[in-house]
Parts: sequence; structure tokens; C-alpha cells
Amino acid sequence: MAGPIPCQRALFDIPEDIVWLNCAQMSPLMRGAVAAGEAAVRRKAHPWTISPVDFFTDSEAARALFAEIVGAGPDEIAIVPSASYGMAIASQNLPADRGSRILVLDGQFPSNVYAWRELAARTGARVDTVPRPADDDWTAAILERIGDDVAIAALPNSHWTDGGLVDLEKIGAALRRAGAALAVDATQSLGALPLDVRHVRPDFLVAASYKWMLGPYSLGFLYVDPKHHGGTPLEHNWIARAGSEDFTALVDYRDDYQPGARRFDMGERSNFALMPQAMAAMRQILDWGVGNIHATLSARNEAIAARARGLGIASVPQGRRAGHYLGLRFAGGVPEGLGDRLAAENIHVSVRGTAMRVTPHLYNTDADIDRFFAVLERSLNV
Ligand SMILES: Cc1ncc(COP(=O)(O)O)c(C=O)c1O
Repeated sequence: MAGPIPCQRALFDIPEDIVWLNCAQMSPLMRGAVAAGEAAVRRKAHPWTISPVDFFTDSEAARALFAEIVGAGPDEIAIVPSASYGMAIASQNLPADRGSRILVLDGQFPSNVYAWRELAARTGARVDTVPRPADDDWTAAILERIGDDVAIAALPNSHWTDGGLVDLEKIGAALRRAGAALAVDATQSLGALPLDVRHVRPDFLVAASYKWMLGPYSLGFLYVDPKHHGGTPLEHNWIARAGSEDFTALVDYRDDYQPGARRFDMGERSNFALMPQAMAAMRQILDWGVGNIHATLSARNEAIAARARGLGIASVPQGRRAGHYLGLRFAGGVPEGLGDRLAAENIHVSVRGTAMRVTPHLYNTDADIDRFFAVLERSLNV
């Protein structure tokens, strides 16, 4: 499939009167993923249908699907429950000397901040927050801040409040020149904004699956650069060890691990109920194509931004905003109670910081957008 994608609402179970413009908070699960999940839950009622090989089959298939989305190989992917878990692995495996700096962005999502504060406290490094640039050019602001004393940059691909774009390829190259590491939280972009680890070359990159990956809650994936494959996992579970396929020999304790990034897998990573849901979602994303998803959502968001501009509402300009993501900025802040007034009419957006996120996906219709603006204009008395 190539080019703009027509509305895919039929693949989702969204009642006609619901306007879900809040993928940045949580995506709805597709009907196909729900069916896969229901079948998976029912399987646990009959554990005799789950054999030792099943502890590996779906995990490996999911690993390969995620790898395809980020341009990696399956050996470079670990299975994690959350973005914060991925960042905990990154922060425990990246060095930071006393006096060195760890870069984060102003107003960055906490799951990609607290781990670095811990590392700084442990090592005597310092978390250095890049201030929000007045011209929304995060890339220039970050590049300016990179120096030889930077040990790590812990960054998103787009700012979670308003979609402010971070050019990770440029920043990755500058960090490598400075001898610094790059940890990426791609939770608010992966699946809807193309990203290729062969070009960005992060040390670690994590994405929770329940937003733009259209997957279930409590599951995520972590890309780990091969140079860290000898690192230390957060937990020491049986299945990450070499030879775990042989259930009869698990107490022949082993010091060696499953190959590649698998050593970082969370305990009970086989996750029989969630994995098939994530796999169904990733297959659909690959079928649509992330580039096509991005192009389609970019056109949708640009139209919303233009219409909002007509009402005096600003947003990060095109080129400095990730196309799939939109945060509306009102002069004087988001009007008190606006989110609630919209929600009362079944129109769902989210207020984060000073922006109101309006984040459609392929399930939204033109009528959804018209309804959003009708209520917005009524609420603002325009
Ligand atoms: C940028 C970003 N990262 C991560 C998360 C989720 O973090 P976790 O998986 O640690 O709950 C969110 C949720 O809103 C987010 O916006």
C-alpha cells in the first residue's frame, strides 16, 4: 500500500458518537487485536494447549515484527513492560562520570527523567535540562547543548505535549562525535513517525505499545545496540538464560544468556494474553506502512492546525512538529474546563502542560473533526 490511507474506522470498535482525538493518551485496540487477545485469554483456561515451545514462538514473532518497524534485527530487541523499564535498563548500562551531563528536555515525560536523576545521584553526574526553545527548534537547541562533558542524551523523537520534533539522526551524529550515548523514548512516535535505528544509531530505544503502536497496555519493546549486548539485565529470570528451551534442565543453572538483547527481557515475557494483540497491531502497522500512516496523519493535522489558526489558536509550525502529533496553544493558556466541555460531548482530547493535544489516527473521520470544531467554537464563543 502506498500513499494516503483511507479512513480505517471499520477496523476499530468505536461508536459513531465518540470522537477519539487522543491517541497520544491511548489508542483503541483494533477488532483484530481484540479477537487475538480474546483467543489468547481463553487459551489460559486450557493450559494443556500451551506447550514449552509456545513460551518462545510468539515472543520471537513479536520481536521480529518490532525489529522490522525500527529497521533492526530480532536479536537486537528485548521485551519489556513499559518505557520506564526500558529506561531503567539503559540507565543501568550507560556510564556517566562525576561532573558529566545527562541531557533531557524541558517538560519531558517523567518515565524518561527519573531514571536519569537516579543515575546522576549515583554517579555525581548532572541532569541538564534543555530549555524549551522560543522558536520550537528543539534540534538546534539540543545541538547547541552538546559538548565533550555530555555523557548521555535521553530524548524523545517528538515532545509529548505538542509534537515538537527532535531530529534524532542529526543529534545522534553529534552525540557520537562528542563520545556520548543516546537513549530514546519513542513511545509518542513509533508506529506513526518513521524511524530507522540504522540511521539514528541509538544505544537504547524503547516504545510502550499502547499508543501509536496500537497495542495493549503493559507491553513494550526495547532496541539495544549490539555493543551493549553484554550488559546487565534488571532482573534475572530463567527464560533469558541459555538453554531455557529445555524445561527439564532449568536447574542446570547457567551463567550465559539467550543471544543478543534477549538477556534484557522482563520476567514472564512470553505474556500469552498480550503478545498476540501486539502482534496483530504491528502486522497491521507494517501492512499500512509507517510512512503512509505518517503522511495521512500529517495531512489531517495540518488541516486541523490551519482551521485552529483561523480561530487564533497556534501550534508548533510544520517542519518543527512531528506530522502525526498536534498540540494546540491558546493565547493565555488552555481555557479552564475546555477539555471537560469537549468530553461532555464525547469529544476526547488531552491537556498536557500548556497545550491541548489533538491527536487523531486513521479511525477518525472528517465528521469527527467538524464536531470537534463545532464544540470548540461554541465553547470559545466564536
Ligand atoms: C513520552 C512518553 N513516554 C512514555 C510513556 C509511558 O511510560 P511508561 O510506559 O513508563 O508508563 C508516556 C505516556 O504518556 C509518554 O507520553
